[in-house]
Amino acid sequence: MDIETLLDKLDLPAMVRLLTGAAMFELHGEPAVGLKPLVFSDGPSGVRGPVFSGGRAVALLPNATLVASTWDTRIAHDVGALLAEEAREQDVDVVLGPTVNLHRTPLGGRLFEAFSEDPLLTGALATAYVRGLQEGGVGACPKHFVANEAETDRTSVDSRMAERVLREVYLLPFEMLVADAQPWTIMAAYNDVNGVPSTEHRELLDGVLKGEWAFDGLVMSDWFATKSTLAAANGLDLVMPGPEGPWGDALVEAVHAGEVSEDAVRDHVRRLLRLASRVGCRTSAPAALPARDEHLRSIAASGMTVLTGGDVIPFEEAPVLLVGRHALRTVAQGGGSAQVRPPHVVSIADGLRAALGDRLTVLDGVEVRATPEPADPAFVSDPDTGAPGIRVTSRQADGGEQASTYHAVPSLLLDLEGGPHDGAAHVVLSADLPLTHTGEVEVGVIGTGRWTVSLGDRDHEVTVAPADAISAVLDPPHWTVRLPAVPGGRLVATRRPPDEGRPASIVALVARPVPRADEDAITAAAAAAAGAARAVVVVGLTPEQEMEAKDKTTLALPGRQDDLVRAVAAAARSTVVVVNAATPVLMPWLEDVDAVLWAGLPGQEGGHAVADVLLGRREATGRLVTTFPAADGDGPAWSPVPVDGVLEYAEGLGVGYRGWAPDSPLFWFGHGLGWTTWAYHDAEPDGPDALVVTVENTGTRTGREVVQVYLRPDDDPVRLAGWAVADDVAPGERRSVRVTLDPRVLRRWAPDGWAPIHGGRLVVARGLGDVRLDVARPSPADG
Ligand code: BGC
Repeated sequence: MDIETLLDKLDLPAMVRLLTGAAMFELHGEPAVGLKPLVFSDGPSGVRGPVFSGGRAVALLPNATLVASTWDTRIAHDVGALLAEEAREQDVDVVLGPTVNLHRTPLGGRLFEAFSEDPLLTGALATAYVRGLQEGGVGACPKHFVANEAETDRTSVDSRMAERVLREVYLLPFEMLVADAQPWTIMAAYNDVNGVPSTEHRELLDGVLKGEWAFDGLVMSDWFATKSTLAAANGLDLVMPGPEGPWGDALVEAVHAGEVSEDAVRDHVRRLLRLASRVGCRTSAPAALPARDEHLRSIAASGMTVLTGGDVIPFEEAPVLLVGRHALRTVAQGGGSAQVRPPHVVSIADGLRAALGDRLTVLDGVEVRATPEPADPAFVSDPDTGAPGIRVTSRQADGGEQASTYHAVPSLLLDLEGGPHDGAAHVVLSADLPLTHTGEVEVGVIGTGRWTVSLGDRDHEVTVAPADAISAVLDPPHWTVRLPAVPGGRLVATRRPPDEGRPASIVALVARPVPRADEDAITAAAAAAAGAARAVVVVGLTPEQEMEAKDKTTLALPGRQDDLVRAVAAAARSTVVVVNAATPVLMPWLEDVDAVLWAGLPGQEGGHAVADVLLGRREATGRLVTTFPAADGDGPAWSPVPVDGVLEYAEGLGVGYRGWAPDSPLFWFGHGLGWTTWAYHDAEPDGPDALVVTVENTGTRTGREVVQVYLRPDDDPVRLAGWAVADDVAPGERRSVRVTLDPRVLRRWAPDGWAPIHGGRLVVARGLGDVRLDVARPSPADG
């Protein structure tokens, strides 16, 4: 039956009911039109399932900046395809991703979810990702439309910029997506754009998105973002989540009162039914899933980026001293709604140990977090079976057991909602500590509630309360204590029922050996490094910096990591630094070390991928997707903090490298050394909007080059106009690649619409700090 006939079967209240979610990640079904309840799940680096956190164990992919650093649309397509498989296994119809907001200021807390500072690179990779996902029968939801580049006051901030900037920069990835990938849904952002809430922005939603671009999919709100009934008249189709919300009866009344047209409501439902028909045509789930681990490992390695020391990485498999908290507890993902629960996380220590065996020595580093992490999987075991991990037992109010479950990866927050412990009165988290551990221990709990925490013969009664309702979920409160050694002791944390209401569902057990004090850790690292032929120091950020709903205040590495690097570099004969972070960090020790590898947030196989590239089993082929400043405050845009509610995009068109030129950052967008060297021979125009570039591998290893072409217009900021990948180029081999320039960056927004940019120069560069060729752009007549 066609959609118009189905629509005719629904009266106004029945239609309106469908336009607000039924639950956090689920819509209402409607038997009258054969509509099943559609199910959403967050992305963009894994499909958590229809829960807010926790969920079942699912594949954790490398984060968006690491995927983007491959500059490879084939890999972005693979990521989409892989997520589609993960979604179909869980009966998820729409994955809420990709995130296509830009890296405007490096302080943005959520940049780890977004691809790049460049709109063309973002748009092209997102297009491939969405195609991969939707070809697998699962809807994509590019987000957040639009100008959502920072987290501070994210639900009220007004992002302000000239229309030209909005069109040429921030709308461009969405425009490319709609034209080239036809996403089935799009998510309207929390923020206002030039004074109007994104969810109510008639000019952008109805005018640009659905009008000019002819988007035929569904626009949903970000979670709890819809502010008024009026939004329904202005282009928003679906309020998320539900069942409460500003539409419902109020929307029915608004239609009766003539404030919203029934046609508008009908169009929202039309789009919803279109989405249902699209996900309904899904192909069946594949019988055998491909080997995920190998695939994830290769994606992660491809995006890793050699920042300095192209002649030092890779190195021989000699003895290696590995230092740093991030080596042991590698950060595989950022924080917030993008989080998933992976089956395992291969730390960098695990990865290098698997490759080097006893030629590896591992040393913990300095403290990197201000708040405790859930238990280290290597430190706790299930009291029932002895397997590594913890046990969760729940009891009902009458004391009867509700459920008992084993958790192999305790190093993540657990969400009790929706699982076997849902609604339990008492929750007990328990684990045994190692018999061999004789030092002090730090134990405790994460999660709201009244807890009794017992270890050995000590009981602690504590009340753990969050600062507010949001932080109970996004940044849950904790309580910990340091105790003398209790070898083989049983740690039990029991949460009693609250006096009223349901307690927040996020909980975790904290248990770890008390680490050395920072000063001692630095001294010990320097002593171990003295005379070491090869030291690898792993530094990085944690979800305390790279998370949703909070921006950073500095790019400095947390804690005393800089001191640790300096101490090791001063003592070891050769020092390689691995940066485990999604976004730029300051490197005041850069001149003191021999090489720096940027490893992103590499997902569940991250440690193996780092070992692969350090030891020369795969090339780290990444090129930076964001410019790295040398100091806090540098660059075209810095503060993410609104002034009087307004975040002025004052740098205008000069976002990222476009606004840096001609100043020099620490590393340019597009920079990355790989494991070989390249000569650029010539760049021949091939028609007005393409260039054939010939490169030669002048090194000793078969390598991959990303050939980048920038347009430097006479009167506008420089911009990436196209790129091509030269794969598997043998030493001494010359390869010609054709780089097509995207017409959507060869135009400017004038008051009366798009106008072509004529002339200018085409710059072939490995990032603007390493320009190789510079040619006049041919005029159309030359072509
Ligand atoms: C985020 C979205 C996410 C949604 C559902 C919001 O807080 O901004 O990106 O999809 O929550 O978890």
